[in-house]
Amino acid sequence: MSFMNIAHRGFSSQYPENTLLAFQKALDLGVPHMEFDLQVTVDNHLIIMHDRTVDRTTNGSGNVCDLTLSQIKALDAGSHLSSEFVGEKVPTFEETLNFLGGRSKMAVELKFEGNNHIPDVLDAIAHHNLIDQVSISSFDLPKLPEVKRLNPEFSTTALLKPETDPDCDWVGVALDLGVDVFGPRHNDTTREMVDRAHDNNLLVRCWGLGHDQGPALERIIDLGANGLTTDCPDILQDILKRRNLL
Ligand code: G3P
Ligand code: CA
Repeated sequence: MSFMNIAHRGFSSQYPENTLLAFQKALDLGVPHMEFDLQVTVDNHLIIMHDRTVDRTTNGSGNVCDLTLSQIKALDAGSHLSSEFVGEKVPTFEETLNFLGGRSKMAVELKFEGNNHIPDVLDAIAHHNLIDQVSISSFDLPKLPEVKRLNPEFSTTALLKPETDPDCDWVGVALDLGVDVFGPRHNDTTREMVDRAHDNNLLVRCWGLGHDQGPALERIIDLGANGLTTDCPDILQDILKRRNLL
């Protein structure tokens, strides 16, 4: 059995997150599975960025939804981390699909407000013939049935925080949403959840490991989950090689 090593915002522990460089560096590790986040500019372009503002990850400031694509493209997305990365740009979704298509699976997280741009996301993926390489994820759970309503061929992933209500049946929440992948935060994930998800034909993909500790990675593997997003795909790759899980 193999375990999905998903590079969270690319190889983001060592390279500027959500950039083509971070994606290439994960591919160079032999990790062909990326997670990234989508935001929308004021002129309705989909771009790859985690935060609602450009402040943390570029040399600019302001809300993504108030900036045009050309204003975003004028920003530097590498210099905040190191002078070594000066010149790295914020990629568009289209550029990312061109870059990763045929080379990597993708966990595409919808971070933008509302549902108006979901059709643009699905159309772009379909245009690249990449539907079977993608799972659409969100914490904004009503987006997920909307994806299925627009095109039931798409896989969807419910990102969940079970610690917010320990008594809730979180697998039941995922089943009610009609998703394909159950996505609990890693430290809230239990064997009971994993088994119940599998019994109901859901994949289990955990999240929330940043600058990772080997034991936390190994715990998720030991629980029987199917995959994990990690900022340190290098460390997880070494563990998977050692455990013969690639
Ligand atoms: O895959 C889920 C993970 O990316 C969620 O957290 O804040 O990094 O988008 P965040
Ligand atoms: Ca994300």
